[in-house]
Amino acid sequence: MRPTVAEISLRNLKFNYLNIRKKVKNRAVMAVVKADAYGHGMLKAVEALESLGEAKPAYYGVALTEEAIELRKSKLTSAPILTFSPVKEEEIPEYFKFKIIPTFASSSQIKILKKYKGKKPLLIHVNVDTGMGRLGIDYREALDIIKEISTLGNVKIDGIYTHFATSDEKNKSFANIQLGRFKEVLNELESEGIETGIVHAANSGAILDLPDAYFDMVRPGISLYGYYPSLETSESIKLKPVMKLVSQITTLKKVRKGESVSYGRIYFAPKNIVAATVPVGYADGYNRLLSNKSKGIIKGSQVKQIGRVTMDRILFDVTGKSVNIGNRIVLMGREGKQNFDAWEWSKILNTIPYEITCNISKRVPRVYVD
Ligand SMILES: Cc1ncc(COP(=O)(O)O)c(C=O)c1O
Repeated sequence: MRPTVAEISLRNLKFNYLNIRKKVKNRAVMAVVKADAYGHGMLKAVEALESLGEAKPAYYGVALTEEAIELRKSKLTSAPILTFSPVKEEEIPEYFKFKIIPTFASSSQIKILKKYKGKKPLLIHVNVDTGMGRLGIDYREALDIIKEISTLGNVKIDGIYTHFATSDEKNKSFANIQLGRFKEVLNELESEGIETGIVHAANSGAILDLPDAYFDMVRPGISLYGYYPSLETSESIKLKPVMKLVSQITTLKKVRKGESVSYGRIYFAPKNIVAATVPVGYADGYNRLLSNKSKGIIKGSQVKQIGRVTMDRILFDVTGKSVNIGNRIVLMGREGKQNFDAWEWSKILNTIPYEITCNISKRVPRVYVD
């Protein structure tokens, strides 16, 4: 195996999950495992969460029907699987075959439900758009649409949900507006006696800081994987990053003062230095914009990455360090007292840890370390 791997700590995943559960006072949890569990490996993540007995997730959330099918085929769980993607007529046989719950996400989909003539009830969760502005039925039209759905004898509303646009921001005013809209829809439905099943809204930001949004079930994604969704939330749940990107030094070479390394000559040695090459590059998700800006951790201390990131290889300045070929280097994550985790990458790349872990490419084997 190549020395560049993503080490995944399933122990940390379980630690995060159980802390989230404690925070929401043992409410049901839908573990969001879309996008291959944000790059960590969906099947291994589910297997780990399923080992938690009574505490295991009540539901799993994915973005695509294909992801739901993969999870169901694995036979790792019998829990309901919700796909956030809108119900599609041609996928109905698969919803039944693989016990998948699609999302009712737009008023135009009422035709699909009306056309469905099967005897077995088609389970759906209704997504109410309270301000995310992406998927979901408009909160102002929700009552009428849901009323209409509830008259269809062969469709069962198993759940109703909304999604926050800004729950990870310090200023919760818009999140509270969304919450108010959602509650109003729920109240109207209740007063009309319409059953909507399980109610859920809270993503990681809301789990951390908006307890009013917990309802019957919460939907954590990024916090499962050990990251707060932004730098503005509280850290009221202790989390440990689950992924570490590691590699090894493959060569060491002297670079004389004034000489350059790598493409484009964007780095010139300010003095005689020793440079280590490490077999990772942008084809692995080590973003080219990290060039000359990132760091690695070798033997408990940080070293600077130098020169342009190439497709398969990068360099570090290891001058004065007692390092050898084959030494381990942590490229993303924490080791000992040193930290260069996905937030450090994010600050350089102007993004968020979600994108960083999802972008560690398939070429990088995931190794499950504990
Ligand atoms: C509908 C839905 N719910 C929950 C989540 C989980 O969000 P987070 O990763 O911020 O906890 C996502 C992810 O974007 C989502 O799309």
